[in-house]
Amino acid sequence: MVDENVPFACLTCYDATTARWLERAGIPILLVGDTAAEVILGFKRTLDMPLDVLIALTAAVKRGAPRALVMGDMPFLSYHTSEADAIRNAGRFVVEGMADIVKVEATSAEAPRLAAMARAGIPLCGHVGCRPQQVAVAGGYVAAGRTVRELEKVVDDAVALEQAGCVMLLVEAVPDEVARAIMERTSVPLIGIGAGSACHGQVLVLQDLLGFSDMPPRFAEAVASLGVEVEKAGREWVRRVAERRIGGRGYSMQAGEAERLRNQNRSADGLIEEIVHPERRERGPRS
Ligand code: KIV
Repeated sequence: MVDENVPFACLTCYDATTARWLERAGIPILLVGDTAAEVILGFKRTLDMPLDVLIALTAAVKRGAPRALVMGDMPFLSYHTSEADAIRNAGRFVVEGMADIVKVEATSAEAPRLAAMARAGIPLCGHVGCRPQQVAVAGGYVAAGRTVRELEKVVDDAVALEQAGCVMLLVEAVPDEVARAIMERTSVPLIGIGAGSACHGQVLVLQDLLGFSDMPPRFAEAVASLGVEVEKAGREWVRRVAERRIGGRGYSMQAGEAERLRNQNRSADGLIEEIVHPERRERGPRS
């Protein structure tokens, strides 16, 4: 698509059912992002994403969308401690998670570690610009590259990550100029999120696109209001249950079984009556 100058769509996805529908919609890339920590697990930061859970979700998405390119997202501390850990954990995404590519938030400082991962055979997407896993030191989710000096830093990071072996890049929360500069200096596909419309591909967090988020980021425009729809459906179910109007088709007993059950209940009632009130037992002619 990049070669044909056709912008490609990417969305985050965290489960097999949604993946199945997004694949049908023609989304070629599904990112199982560490945003799952927030939108699936209810944490306030992506930092809290457990590695094992994200690997399991990645496999779920691949099972739901076998033809899509599924990108696993390496969570905080899963690739920071050593080259060996980085390779082992990225390998788990590829093997257990069935990821087609693995995303890593990084700068030029981490390029040697990414190079080792690439040499080990991990297909890598380097995530530059705003890197949410740095929230604890940055003090919040802040845009990157808003001064010439910062722009140069983000572009240098992107170049270093491509040189380290990344076959794809992702840039988050930067002005248009940064994305354009990255595209001029690198040759791999660039996915943007809050990075202007020039990028080869665009990604959004699915919940922001569907209208589930109470406070979406400024760059995310919802195209549906599914949050409101889910609330409406929930209220409707509450009403139906209260009115004993649960709908659907129930089950019936097999032929003759309902009759058998009635007869059984009748004789059981008779037995109970005999035990509780033996004096009421019908007397025979000699008693
Ligand atoms: O984790 C994620 O969902 C991401 C996107 C916001 C790009 O990294």
